[in-house]
Amino acid sequence: MTPAHASDLTAQVCDLAPVIPVLVVKDAAHATPLATALIAGGLPALEVTLRTPAALDVIREMAQVDGGVVGAGTLLTEQDVINAKEAGASFGVSPGATDRLLDACEANDLPLLAGAATASEAMALLARGYTVAKFFPAEANGGAKALKAIGAPIPQVSFCPTGGVSLANARDYLSLPNVRCVGGSWVAPSDKVETGDWDGITALAAEASNLPR
Ligand code: 3PG
Repeated sequence: MTPAHASDLTAQVCDLAPVIPVLVVKDAAHATPLATALIAGGLPALEVTLRTPAALDVIREMAQVDGGVVGAGTLLTEQDVINAKEAGASFGVSPGATDRLLDACEANDLPLLAGAATASEAMALLARGYTVAKFFPAEANGGAKALKAIGAPIPQVSFCPTGGVSLANARDYLSLPNVRCVGGSWVAPSDKVETGDWDGITALAAEASNLPR
């Protein structure tokens, strides 16, 4: 898969809704009701981070839920890419970008939303042909103000800011011309997941899906 094709596909994923839930799921039994609750609230694009032993099983389960588009987050290595693809992930997300990771995603036909935190990192992705990236960690890097400043000289790259984004500051990002959507864990808090408060998660998702952009 070429970087241009990968960027078209990740742009489509980002354009599905204002927020991509970032999910850390410990128990694969939670996968189907969690995905169902988020999709019901209007958030179909889901990022399952590879940070728990259950993550690949969670992706397998969620990939079967109607109406969802499931990606694998926290991709660091070529093996992560292979595992994500095999589990049925439609896209990948990484905190940063290395040539090895980009090579692996291109070779395995997994569109990658690669992380960039600086103008140089955005330029490096653009030079390779990527025009969509994750701005990470968004708040720690100066937030919407910093991303707006990066967008002035590099308008060709659009972003999904993630890391410290919440309902309180999501609008600041979503109002920028170089932001397609934001990512965040606030729509699926662990207490609600672990107690099975699926209606509560649908309510959080509905609030997020109604954010203007
Ligand atoms: C993460 O690293 O887990 C993601 O960037 C999500 O960050 P958040 O928990 O601040 O939304």
